[in-house]
Amino acid sequence: MATLKAVRGTRDLLPPETALWNRIEATARAVFARYSFGEIRTPIFEDTGLFARGVGEETDIVSKEMYTWEDRARAQSEKPQSLTLRPENTAGVVRAYIEHKLGETGQLQKLFYVGPQFRRERPQKGRYRQFWQIGAEVIGPPSAGSESPLRDAEVLEMLATLLDELGIAGWTLELNSVGSAADRARYNETLRAALVDVAPRMCVDCQRRAVTNPLRVLDCKVPEDQPIIATLPVIADSLDEDSKAHFGAVTAALDAAGVPYTRNHRLVRGLDYYTRTTFEFTHGGLGAQNALLGGGRYDGLSEAIGGPKAPGIGFAMGLDRLVLTLQAQESAQPAAGAAKVDAYIAPLGEGMNAAALKLARELRRDGLRVELGDGSFRLKKSFEAAEKTARRIVILGEDELASGILTVKDFASGVQTKVPRGELKEFLAR
Ligand code: HAM
Repeated sequence: MATLKAVRGTRDLLPPETALWNRIEATARAVFARYSFGEIRTPIFEDTGLFARGVGEETDIVSKEMYTWEDRARAQSEKPQSLTLRPENTAGVVRAYIEHKLGETGQLQKLFYVGPQFRRERPQKGRYRQFWQIGAEVIGPPSAGSESPLRDAEVLEMLATLLDELGIAGWTLELNSVGSAADRARYNETLRAALVDVAPRMCVDCQRRAVTNPLRVLDCKVPEDQPIIATLPVIADSLDEDSKAHFGAVTAALDAAGVPYTRNHRLVRGLDYYTRTTFEFTHGGLGAQNALLGGGRYDGLSEAIGGPKAPGIGFAMGLDRLVLTLQAQESAQPAAGAAKVDAYIAPLGEGMNAAALKLARELRRDGLRVELGDGSFRLKKSFEAAEKTARRIVILGEDELASGILTVKDFASGVQTKVPRGELKEFLAR
């Protein structure tokens, strides 16, 4: 029979690597707490229309990469519905913001999430069909200050802090502004005009985008098209005074806080909801898929999916890519899970197994990390197994049980000690 394997583009995460995943997540949660973000968990699948309207029909994500299916009705009261595994989480967060009327609090909502996302992309290093994002969104009514450039700068400063605390060295912040909806419309027309002559020499996708949504031409990855794209007008020249002032205030705040960035005029990002600030943090060690994270402002997203005016800014970091970067870096901390446990309890003979479980239970309840051996092992085998996983071995035989004095060997020093049961916890904790 053919063996079953994880589906292409998906993978299993195993210990000890999962300890690194958990460490990254714990660091992110600790940083988010300091900036007063709360966690949101939205469903993994949503109505397909949410992504079509939110992310944009013309984007690669919606037009090519979504896992969509027709969900059959199970009862007369239900209707069949087109559902999609979420390819990203911003649209879901904004849907929840609208559904739960969070805007009516009058406060800024600062929400973070951790979870899997799904895109049918061509798998390669750092690009998977199920991948993990850690993201956050700051969203609220304009009266709560949700449009302030200070919010953009604060999110970017938080990201710089988070990457530094994770120990990721050598990141670059690429920053741009795609302007207001009106600026983008103007730029789209400028691009459309510029593309009339050159589009016929570009790939078929670009030929279509040149007509339907010229901005998306800038997402093109086809190498032959890049020299043409390099000659196209830049969006900075289409920004109005308000958009320029907003961007200027973001960069001024970053300068004051000492967060370094570079301007990337081509950074329009592959999702349609962006307005004004867009950004990516990249890392040279990642190869072709070099974006550690991406994000930006989405001042019209809530309205695009039927909600109130609720400007926002946010980002999502690729957890898979953070792991790859840290693994490649010498400075990566050894995974916590790989550290040896405090004690390995070796029952001498199967008759000691039950007593060994009792001892292990007591020590674990005392907070010690304990591995439990098996009385069917010979002593030599117990020692070998113990040395791989534990700092010390505790021998539990008939004599030890009767006398209450246990034999403990410390592998680092090679010293064997007799320890009364009452002192075992303190001894092993050392
Ligand atoms: P995105 O740029 O599509 O933005 O994805 C954000 C990050 O997710 C990327 O920079 C990358 O690190 C990671 N990522 C994306 N696709 C894959 C993949 N196939 N395999 C591994 N990692 C991947 C968004 O998703 C927006 N929702 C971000 C945002 C939040 N904008 C505003 N708020």
